[in-house]
Amino acid sequence: MAAAHPSKPSDAPAVDIANLLSGELGAKHVLRRDDERIADYGRDEGGLGEYPPDCAALCDSREQVEAVLRLCQEHKVPVTPRGAGSGMVGGALPVRGGVVLSVERMGNILEIDPDDLVAVVEPGVITGELQTAVEAQGLFYPPDPASLAICSIGGNVATDAGGPRAFKYGVTRQYVLGLEVVLMGGEVIRCGRRTAKGVTGYDLVAGFVGTEGTFGVNTEITVKLLPKPAAVCTLLAVFDTMAAAGEAISDLLHRGFRPRVLELMDKLSIDYVRPKARYKFPRDAGAVALIELDGEPEGLESATLRAGMVCEAHGAVDVIIAQDEKDRRDLWEARRITSPSLREAFAHKINEDICVPRGCIPEMLARIEKLSERFDMPVATFGHAGDGNLHVNILCDEDRSDERVAHKIDGAVRTLFEDTIELRGTLSGEHGIGLTKKDYLPMEQSERIIEWQRKWKALWDPDDLLNPGKIFPDKPTDLPQDRKRRCPE
Ligand code: MLT
Ligand code: ZN
Repeated sequence: MAAAHPSKPSDAPAVDIANLLSGELGAKHVLRRDDERIADYGRDEGGLGEYPPDCAALCDSREQVEAVLRLCQEHKVPVTPRGAGSGMVGGALPVRGGVVLSVERMGNILEIDPDDLVAVVEPGVITGELQTAVEAQGLFYPPDPASLAICSIGGNVATDAGGPRAFKYGVTRQYVLGLEVVLMGGEVIRCGRRTAKGVTGYDLVAGFVGTEGTFGVNTEITVKLLPKPAAVCTLLAVFDTMAAAGEAISDLLHRGFRPRVLELMDKLSIDYVRPKARYKFPRDAGAVALIELDGEPEGLESATLRAGMVCEAHGAVDVIIAQDEKDRRDLWEARRITSPSLREAFAHKINEDICVPRGCIPEMLARIEKLSERFDMPVATFGHAGDGNLHVNILCDEDRSDERVAHKIDGAVRTLFEDTIELRGTLSGEHGIGLTKKDYLPMEQSERIIEWQRKWKALWDPDDLLNPGKIFPDKPTDLPQDRKRRCPE
């Protein structure tokens, strides 16, 4: 069980914010500190510990969100927005106490329009449910985070979530056309559009997506839809080694293959998924590549076979093609439970989601293997290899409060990030920076760039009350400054 971190007391004046919120929203919308249900609002999927807020506001309308942000601004109370709590980096943890503003009750699909090819949704809509609803009308919403059965679209927008299909279809930002946002203080703005194109003014929507709940709270989201692909083919290639699988993926990219999914799982990931999954990976699988193609039925099967042949040329010992919907479902279940299976198996799972340029995938995989040897810790790697976006999970059963263990973990994480930056990659391909990576941000971004981002944040939230303590380091970090930087000065 994770340790409890008492929230740092908020800087708020001595107001009873729970009382004030109850007065505005009604008592049934407010959880107080002594309510046992409040614990759920102080943790997330990242498993970083407990950060109980002073109270939780369970909003079911935009008006309620406005009231919370107005009162919190007025009384200078920190407020942390929260969707389904499925984030991996502590983005929804109320680290400075105050109020958690939950939008989980705002779960309505307001509109699906097949002519305009848009859907309009509230932020608490579960991503998988949106997909099912649009697919019932022959439409398609591509972003598919592995947690799509539990995560919500508001959180996807906040983190600019990706997923396996990002390889072909891109990430959440590419699908958000318009936003209704409530700002600190309660002002409501509507930005963006409903049209397929539009270049009027600054692209505020793009600016809001991915800000991890630090700019405002989305209360309505207009997303772009596509026609549902007519056919899908899924194949699993089994390799002896991760290196061979990495080479096969590089070769597929080099040859211009553009499947919708190009995923990779290493032996450790496979071994921990095997007992839990319906799909039974071959016993001796050292790595697998999960490849999925979609489009018109003509030519799809032959393209899938060609992809399988490329894998065989790189030593694939088995190429399994899903024969029906059940096969496909089972394969995907196995992939989607990778992260939770590892989490259950180890006391600590430090889940990074680095992304390197596609040409560097084999090199990065080799470096990860070395890192595991050097720090003598198991490392499970899986994820969106086609994008160069690897979930590198440093696993540990030792006591993390032991300084030696904490030092070892920090060393492994820093080495991973150093390698990533050296290969001109980025610290986070999809989970965001949140709490866990903020101290490492200066490894990738210059002080000037961080400063400009802080100014941008201050424009929307001058008192730093909205999701404070995230993304940016609290104090100048002790990281060497001579690291290769990605952003120009
Ligand atoms: C995934 O791709 O499985 C998710 O991003 C979750 C994770 O990385 O743990
Ligand atoms: Zn992922």
